Amino acid sequence: MANVKIGLFGKLDMLKFKNITKVREKHIQASPTTPLPKVLPTNEKAKQHHPEKQEVVIADIRQNGSDAKTIVLKTPDGSRLALFRAGQYVSVLVPIGGTVTTRSYSLCSSPALARQGEYHITVKRDDAGFVSPYIQDHWQIGQKVTVSGPEGHLYFEPLRDAKKVVALAGGSGITPFMGMAYALRDGLEDFDLTILYGSRTADGIVYQEQLDEVCKACSKVHVVHVLSDEEKDGYEHGFITAELIRKYSGGGEYSIFMCGPQAMYNFLDGEIAKLGLRRKFVRRELFGTIKDPWNQPGYPSDARGKSFRLKVLQYGKEYETEASADESLLVAVERAGISAPSRCRSGECGWCRSRLVSGEVYIPEKTDGRRAADIDYNYIHPCSTFPLSDVVIEVYGSNLT
Ligand code: FES
Repeated sequence: MANVKIGLFGKLDMLKFKNITKVREKHIQASPTTPLPKVLPTNEKAKQHHPEKQEVVIADIRQNGSDAKTIVLKTPDGSRLALFRAGQYVSVLVPIGGTVTTRSYSLCSSPALARQGEYHITVKRDDAGFVSPYIQDHWQIGQKVTVSGPEGHLYFEPLRDAKKVVALAGGSGITPFMGMAYALRDGLEDFDLTILYGSRTADGIVYQEQLDEVCKACSKVHVVHVLSDEEKDGYEHGFITAELIRKYSGGGEYSIFMCGPQAMYNFLDGEIAKLGLRRKFVRRELFGTIKDPWNQPGYPSDARGKSFRLKVLQYGKEYETEASADESLLVAVERAGISAPSRCRSGECGWCRSRLVSGEVYIPEKTDGRRAADIDYNYIHPCSTFPLSDVVIEVYGSNLT
């Protein structure tokens, strides 16, 4: 064994270490005997800023463009809602029949309104899936709604982002940028925002009037409408391409923020690659649940359409249900009426993190947001995991109920 010499400071450290127990006992003896407070102010503040859930009431429903509705959510007593960074989203609890599911919607109102207990979300009818049409058809003024605290990372961060942001929006993907535009108008953010906003026709543009008003009121916000199915004076025609981004970026350094449907992301990935931007300058909103796992790289060609048994272990209880290879495990769990946590439904936030006890699964690379340690120890995000055999998972926590 090597002969290690310990210097004076090392000896003092060892002496301190040997005395730790005695010193601790001395402090315990000297401490007051009054019990610790049950409510700690710092914990209360943290809960206010990062609540797990918030109860609101639908105060108004406004038609927005031909097929979107903006839903105004307010606290029943006017108390403040959790503050958010423009661009963040909330997860909304949606009971449909015997199933309770969640969907994330960007906050499209000014962050300033949260202080008055008000959030706005916009729901577009042609958003993929059945939840947005359900909300459009069934939600009514006066109805109570449960939403999560603000989540997500698509917001301007001066330490990371260029001072000029080119936002690429498709359809209802305008919503986080609407929040940013309002935040710039209200002096809550400071950067230059150019929105390239793709819609099919001028009729289907969501927030057209509001965007016009914000552009007039705030010189930091610029909007360029790009119509794919219609040619019209004053509008760009076609798709958002690298050429169009270059044209409106104004040169110099800029960040790209993207929000829109999956098909738009797939197309834009190729266009943005042509721009040669630094990686940190390209950011995008949630990808959403992958609807066509069979089109993703590595999906076994014979799995599509198959059905398996899914066993869910949750706090000492066991549930069994069917799970289709075409749908995520989270959807199967919700269909069975099991309360499971979720927020982003894109494999990103980790709220649905569960343990894969046994079975074979497919996880698309695009939405595999797991940490390395989780991969090593067989943890999965059910929102972005598809069964390839009978599967057993252990689920922790519950949804917003
Ligand atoms: S809900 Fe966010 S990772 Fe699954």
